[in-house]
Amino acid sequence: MSKKFKAVVIDNQNEKFTREIKELDTDSLKDGNALVKIDYTNLNYKDALILHNGGRIVKKYPFVPGIDFSGTVEQSEDSKFKAGDRVILTGFRVGEVYFGGFAGYAKVNSSFLVKTPDQLSNLQVMMMGTAGFTAMLSCFAIKAREELLMGEKVKDVLVTGATGGVGSISIMILSKMGYTVHAVTGKKDKHDYLKDLGAKNILDRKDFMGESKLLEKGMWDGVVDTVGGEALTKILVQTKPAGIIAACGNAGGIKINTNVMPFVVRGVKLWGIDSSGSSIKRREFAWNEAKNLIDFEKLKSLTKEHSLEELLKIFPKMLKGEISGRVVINPNK
Ligand SMILES: NC(=O)c1ccc[n+]([C@@H]2O[C@H](COP(=O)([O-])OP(=O)(O)OC[C@H]3O[C@@H](n4cnc5c(N)ncnc54)[C@H](OP(=O)(O)O)[C@@H]3O)[C@@H](O)[C@H]2O)c1
Repeated sequence: MSKKFKAVVIDNQNEKFTREIKELDTDSLKDGNALVKIDYTNLNYKDALILHNGGRIVKKYPFVPGIDFSGTVEQSEDSKFKAGDRVILTGFRVGEVYFGGFAGYAKVNSSFLVKTPDQLSNLQVMMMGTAGFTAMLSCFAIKAREELLMGEKVKDVLVTGATGGVGSISIMILSKMGYTVHAVTGKKDKHDYLKDLGAKNILDRKDFMGESKLLEKGMWDGVVDTVGGEALTKILVQTKPAGIIAACGNAGGIKINTNVMPFVVRGVKLWGIDSSGSSIKRREFAWNEAKNLIDFEKLKSLTKEHSLEELLKIFPKMLKGEISGRVVINPNK
């Protein structure tokens, strides 16, 4: 039986970009083999780009964006999932190519779904979302240095874009892992917020801009870099011997202008993170670790819940770098 639900629909007809809340019918969802009733979704940087003007990512209109959701399976043609199973979806080009999570329902390929661990609620997993999942993958990359170096401990870890979703959750995880976290931010009024998350030292974003030498003083055993561009160029030459940089974002630019010295003189490792295309095995591992790595009480205190209508008003703030903490969307509000 078909069901009606609310969704954000973006359109681009005759070069006029529009976004509005519409009522859709589950029969209109054509992709996939699993119908999921969505409880929560959230706002990521990529969502904000898509809501703004399609972000040169969405090619087919009208379209329902939203790259993440959590919810409950209502129908599945795949025996791995049955009605009532709680599931998480992040990435796999949902909300970019396939209709996404800014809606009461989504129909997706069941091979994109991860069963939600019993210890986590549907709200908790969307307080994390793609940002939290990416943070987990990035922090595991830093921790891997200890295995690569046969037990040599990681001490100082730098996090850029610290007040953002990936940055904030990375600080929480890295301090839980026992590392000394140095947070880079452009927001002077958020130092207490970052310290409360676990950062020991706050650095100004401006110090990571401008010309870099071939090698500078090595200061970081690990880096979670969400900014890219000039910041990543500088970080590469400031990383200690055998340090690992988990490069996951481009909030500050896509080009890096570097040289081979950090790699051949210091053995620095530049480790790319792509959460969207991660295997189900890695997803299951990471989501099962979340309960050990995340202080959900604290994360909840940093999270604001909004309706789909409110989402359309607040997404531009994310593009201006004005959001700190997490934005969860309840499509049934
Ligand atoms: N690789 C992946 O799988 C993956 C997954 C998720 C996200 N990402 C990427 O990771 C990045 C961060 O995502 P997010 O969800 O955390 O976004 P976000 O919440 O918007 O955070 C980005 C943060 O970067 C800093 N920033 C903004 N503009 C900047 C600029 N021009 N120069 C330097 N810093 C700037 C700001 O922090 P401060 O004010 O504290 O400096 C901002 O809060 C984005 O580029 C996103 O596309 C990648």
